[in-house]
Amino acid sequence: MSQPTIRPQERPPAFVYRAPKRVRQRGAEILHCDKLPASELAQRFGTPLYVYSASTIRERVQAFEKAFRGFPHTICYAVKANSNLSILRMLARLGLGFDVVSGGELQRVLRANRAAARRVVFSGVGKTAAEITLALRSNILAFNVESTPELQLLAECARKLRKRAQIALRVNPDVSAETHPYISTGLHQHKFGIPIRQARELYTQAAREKSLKVASVSVHIGSQIRDVDPFREAMERVAELVRELRGEGHDIRYVDAGGGLGISYDQSDNDAFPDRVAAYAEALTAPLRNLKIHLLLEPGRSIVGPAGILLTRVIYKKRNGAKKFLIIDAAMNDLIRPALYSAHHEIVPVQLNPHPAEKVDIVGPVCETGDFLARDRELQEANEGDLLAVLDAGAYGMVQASNYNTRPRAAEVLVDGTKAKLIRKRETVRDLLRGESL
Ligand code: LLP
Repeated sequence: MSQPTIRPQERPPAFVYRAPKRVRQRGAEILHCDKLPASELAQRFGTPLYVYSASTIRERVQAFEKAFRGFPHTICYAVKANSNLSILRMLARLGLGFDVVSGGELQRVLRANRAAARRVVFSGVGKTAAEITLALRSNILAFNVESTPELQLLAECARKLRKRAQIALRVNPDVSAETHPYISTGLHQHKFGIPIRQARELYTQAAREKSLKVASVSVHIGSQIRDVDPFREAMERVAELVRELRGEGHDIRYVDAGGGLGISYDQSDNDAFPDRVAAYAEALTAPLRNLKIHLLLEPGRSIVGPAGILLTRVIYKKRNGAKKFLIIDAAMNDLIRPALYSAHHEIVPVQLNPHPAEKVDIVGPVCETGDFLARDRELQEANEGDLLAVLDAGAYGMVQASNYNTRPRAAEVLVDGTKAKLIRKRETVRDLLRGESL
């Protein structure tokens, strides 16, 4: 089998095969994360293990900053994609703000970097009074309001605290974007946002509330969107609304474009990320030129997705008739994307060998047929004890992990050059039982 090449387009690539220093024989190349062999990380921290590359995260943030440099903007990283405190702290130090969708996510940001609160936007359809109050007390940048009753509750909470909350209405532009139906949000039948035609009326209502300050329009059309045209289309509708609102006397200073820029999970796309993010920037900013707007961006996946892998070990190799299964120590509870969205993740061996490829199902130990990470996948022959790496697992991986089958959640490691830091300990069964009573 030809040697798997991993993201030749990402320079310098964080995850590449290198011959280990000690064993210089052919075919013994080992997948590295930055300067460290993945096999050593697995040895040191155990499996299943999420490994993130700090350099990749930094590069992707820089690509974003560069693409948008001609336009006033703030990147409010979507915490939901990967909410590990160390990653949030790293992003805060790079000057990023945050998009949060719960009081819990806000508390993570406060814990990682208190000063970043003034760059936080709060999205979500179901903010409670307690969450709103915490956000008001933390003096966040803006609330993306999604309904009339939420607007009323926010006004009331702000009044009680004698604060003035800066708000956007999240409008639903009725733009269709090609992605999995579970993560598409910009159509009128979705629960998100306010139909753009009803928005003006609600802006007028908001402007009457002394405890609210109308400042922004926000939109988010979905996630894992690879084509930039739907973003342009949504922004054209938003630009039109901004003009109308300003015409009615509203002081609109910000547009929040949401997140959603997709990544290439199958690595078929050879565009360099900087080019793709530049095309995205052009699509978003072209309709907003001349509006003197400060743009807020909420990328999640495109910043952290390709920066993470999930390391796992083969427990058993099993044959049922013609079918071969690799039963690995990671399962749907560690990475639910294949089971939930039929998502594709490349899976590669950690150590290359000269053996031919074979077709296998790569499955976890959980008692569900849906517990697979890949089906009918061509993979270099792997055996019990071998290590595999699930690629592009940095976003919506660990954050969606569960304890199904009473499986403790994986550990997380952040690699920076030659250093590996444990940024989340492996859970224990004792952790899982805490809080339960007999
Ligand atoms: N802003 C809002 C309001 C959002 O709802 C989302 C994602 C984002 C920003 C970030 O979108 P991104 O840049 O990461 O595409 N669990 C799914 C993805 C769910 C996305 C939900 N909202 C998955 O594993 O694909």
